[in-house]
Amino acid sequence: MNKSTIREVSSHVGQTVTIGCWLNNKRKSGKIQFLQLRDGSGYIQGVLVKSEVTPEVWEAAANLTQESSLYVTGVVNEDTRSQSGYELSITGIEPIQIAHDYPITPKEHGVDFLMDHRHLWLRAPRQRAILIIRSQIIRAVQQFFDDRGFHLVDPPILTPSSCEGTTNLFHTKYFEEDAYLTQSGQLYMEAAAMALGKVYSFGPTFRAEKSKTRRHLIEFWMIEPEMAFVNHDESLKVQEEFIAYVVQSVLENCKHELETIGRDVSKLEKIQAPFPRISYDDAIKFLQENGHEIQWGEDFGAPHETAIAESYEKPVFITKYPAAIKAFYMKPDPERPEVVLCADMIAPEGYGEIIGGSQRIDDPQLMEERFREHELSEEAYQWYMDLRKYGSVPHSGFGLGLERTVAWICGLDHVRETIPFPRLLYRLYP
Ligand code: 4AD
Ligand code: MG
Repeated sequence: MNKSTIREVSSHVGQTVTIGCWLNNKRKSGKIQFLQLRDGSGYIQGVLVKSEVTPEVWEAAANLTQESSLYVTGVVNEDTRSQSGYELSITGIEPIQIAHDYPITPKEHGVDFLMDHRHLWLRAPRQRAILIIRSQIIRAVQQFFDDRGFHLVDPPILTPSSCEGTTNLFHTKYFEEDAYLTQSGQLYMEAAAMALGKVYSFGPTFRAEKSKTRRHLIEFWMIEPEMAFVNHDESLKVQEEFIAYVVQSVLENCKHELETIGRDVSKLEKIQAPFPRISYDDAIKFLQENGHEIQWGEDFGAPHETAIAESYEKPVFITKYPAAIKAFYMKPDPERPEVVLCADMIAPEGYGEIIGGSQRIDDPQLMEERFREHELSEEAYQWYMDLRKYGSVPHSGFGLGLERTVAWICGLDHVRETIPFPRLLYRLYP
């Protein structure tokens, strides 16, 4: 038996191959049956001509239902009309299992129904394409950092204290102690940067946020680079090159998938460094001039971010927010200590903040003051203070939210389709 996958049929033209697959759909036209087959690696049409196969094979094909599994045997032919470029002239069919009443039929289904059947919904061409693009984004992230001398470091998932404020922590018991699921690996990545120079992490993070929006997940994946001897401005350069690289790599490697989901790629082709920068001060002015009720000192909501992003075709950095609305570890601007050396990167087309980053406080005294102001236990953060006591250096880093990035690059309405099994507010199944 000459086993193949659909992806590999191009190297078997004119040969007979056997492929393990599922029936996606089928149609009959008199004495010909057309089977739409998928095997995970791709899609191919199989054709059976009644006069050319045994009655058993004809019958077996007629009995196949949507999502039945089978081994199909046939001759590979080139077919320029089909998307895959190949077609299979079927000579044999060996059903593995006949599926009865597959719940997701070609008719329209509601989102709740599809989410309840997420484990099956993943088989839909659109969902498969999104997961392939997600996988390509992860590959590009790793290539970008690996090529630039960064090392991959894995921070812990169970932590004794918070990174991004105490309001949305997931609590659990750690034997006799209290522990929390990590909100961000950043603090640990700072320690790693002091040991390895340039590092990045890629892992799951958790926020017990009661937010039911199209941008929020309870469990999401973050890429967190951290760089010793790199200041705020230098970090922004890394960020814009990084995002441009990831987008271009998806354009190059995922043409079929972008087509399957109907993404307007002309918008993505414009994503080249450098990206525009606007200060928090100017962003507030811009919003006030455009009829938004917002005062200096307030944080932006989704409508504000969208309004700012609409002026640009590329992601935009909003820089130097008031210290009071940002995390305890951000370094104040030496010229204006009421703002910090930070930036949020806002994606175009209304996708909101995809990156949050900053230069970190490196002065031990200021760090201690911040702990007091934020009522953080100095005991719990003693190890973090040590990084400022023993050879403290200027350093910066940032966090990219993977799912919001996938949503933007794919042009999706909601982050729930960007991750195989989304954890959403009040949804833990499947
Ligand atoms: O802005 P955030 O909270 O930054 C940090 O956690 C820093 N410690 C990162 C760092 O400097 N190492 O989160 C970073 C990014 C956001 O810009 C957003 O893309 C994503 O994580 N994010 C979420 N994505 C989905 N659902 C949520 N609930 C998210 N919260 C943040
Ligand atoms: Mg943020």
